[in-house]
Amino acid sequence: MSKKAVLITSIVSLGLLLAGLFLYFTQIVKEDAPRETSHQAPVSNTEEESNDEPDEAAFDKTTYSLTEPGSIWQVVNKQRAISANYVPDDLVVPNVRLRLAASAEQMQFREVATDDLETMFSAADQEDIILVFGSGYRSYQLQKQFYDSYVARDGQAAADRYSARPGTSEHQTGISFDATIPDQTCHLEICFEDTPQGQWLAENAHKYGFHLRYREGKESITGYQYEPWHFRYVGKDLANELHRLDLTMEEFFNL
Ligand code: DAL
Ligand code: ZN
Repeated sequence: MSKKAVLITSIVSLGLLLAGLFLYFTQIVKEDAPRETSHQAPVSNTEEESNDEPDEAAFDKTTYSLTEPGSIWQVVNKQRAISANYVPDDLVVPNVRLRLAASAEQMQFREVATDDLETMFSAADQEDIILVFGSGYRSYQLQKQFYDSYVARDGQAAADRYSARPGTSEHQTGISFDATIPDQTCHLEICFEDTPQGQWLAENAHKYGFHLRYREGKESITGYQYEPWHFRYVGKDLANELHRLDLTMEEFFNL
């Protein structure tokens, strides 16, 4: 074989060898690539999703009706009246410390929320926080008595900032209540927030399904002045969510 033929054969062989090596390595990379991608992709997706507030996105805002009487999410406010005839069909007297005689209309609460109410009062008790059930269910007629007396005392404009007109009070749902303390210091007064009971409820009520309904600085949204004593049962899922996001029902549901 001539030198030239040897040289050409060597170059062709080397070329074939390099091409073979190239194919071999690119195949390895190709086989590995999907494994790396499929391993990494979910991690980065999860991170992206967590930046998009996944809890709020996952929360089903249609679980309960916002309008149906009896729904634990029924929103009652100045714009969303409750029927004057509505009377809950499961009123009971909760087994907690009551402000008034058990026969008083206001000492009733809907059974659907009573287990959680009693559990909450017991939990507070364990920490030497004695809660008192100040006012729960109020009929249209009872709310009318209260509202009329406040208007007579303070005038309508002032009364409208702290008392609901009959037919628009959450108390008529039977799942709202006002908390107070045994000696009734700060009963229905802002200073309730500084009592051990007021502080305990602000920190813990949501864990039992109760939402602090008339929050400080939200009068233009809720329609009422700050009421650190008024709690509304909405169930644990929504109460936790409202607490976490520091939102009223009106804000959360875009009402
Ligand atoms: N104090 C609340 C707003 C009511 O009267 O229902
Ligand atoms: Zn109240």
